[in-house]
Amino acid sequence: MIQFEQTFMNFLLHHQEKYGRTYHFLILMDALVSAGKYIQHYYLTGALKGHLGRAGDINVQGEEVMQMDQIAHEITLHYLRNSGRVIHAVSEESEEIIQINPDGRYFVYFDPMDGSSNIPHGLPIGFLFGIAKRNLEGPEDGHLRAGKDYIAAGMFVIPTGTFTLGLKEAGTYQFHIDETMNFVRPRQVMLPQDPKTWELSFNAANRYTYDERIQRWITENERKYAFRYLGALAGDFHRLLNNGGMFMYPAIVNHPNPKKNRPEGKLRLMYEASVVAFICREAGGMAVDETGTPILEIQPRKHHQRSALYVGSKTLVEEIATILKKSG
Ligand code: F6P
Ligand code: MN
Repeated sequence: MIQFEQTFMNFLLHHQEKYGRTYHFLILMDALVSAGKYIQHYYLTGALKGHLGRAGDINVQGEEVMQMDQIAHEITLHYLRNSGRVIHAVSEESEEIIQINPDGRYFVYFDPMDGSSNIPHGLPIGFLFGIAKRNLEGPEDGHLRAGKDYIAAGMFVIPTGTFTLGLKEAGTYQFHIDETMNFVRPRQVMLPQDPKTWELSFNAANRYTYDERIQRWITENERKYAFRYLGALAGDFHRLLNNGGMFMYPAIVNHPNPKKNRPEGKLRLMYEASVVAFICREAGGMAVDETGTPILEIQPRKHHQRSALYVGSKTLVEEIATILKKSG
């Protein structure tokens, strides 16, 4: 029996039709999916071609190795430019905001290669993106959008081959890459309500550097859940979406070497924290920062702004938010 699969593009065409949307978003999504596939291809073949080395490494041909994060950045920019739909892009790999097409409709914020400590091992990394729409009437309203103003956010887990997309007020869907390099078999994802599969995910080496209230919460609660940490937000968040629980990257405020404190957190707001917070909201969950403020409400002041992140099942994140809102 032949098994016919619904492709991502077919799914999205129907979605756009159902909600009476324009084709512009389709063109943008096609660009992002092409980028996702090419990054997947380069990453899969990277170990053989010598792309997974460190900057400054020399490959067998005697050429300087291009870092995988640079390759992923170039691939993504190529497709975004080619789409003609993007006004500005913000990439983790570029200090400056990238001006693309003054007539473009969308802002795209992306991390082309998330979880870089996994690169030399060929282990899962992510390509994360958030999309906001430019103000089409009236004056231009800039590129610094809060997550609540995103219209979609997605992540590819590479080379695993999963693609997760959150669509504003329309849910979170997961797809898997097939032999023909199509993302297929749409499945709507909702965080499981039953705590029996819930997991906790954080860098345990940092736990004594967290705020005392968070340390106390961990001590009191950690035995209830399995603990998992891959070290790539995309991979850890992928597990969390399917199993429930909480991923956190709290502020570092009690490091023995105070210079290593990170009171603002480590992760980037616009293309990491807001992306997973958006996907999570569409799957029935929530996310807050170190003050207990919903991540999606935070108005960025600068494009590479950092944030602490607590994301996952509502009851756990609400518990943390209540603790964080009380003065320490
Ligand atoms: O992009 C930052 C990142 O690589 C995330 O993907 C990941 O969750 C986190 O940093 C891991 O940080 P650490 O190595 O400090 O645990
Ligand atoms: Mn990253």
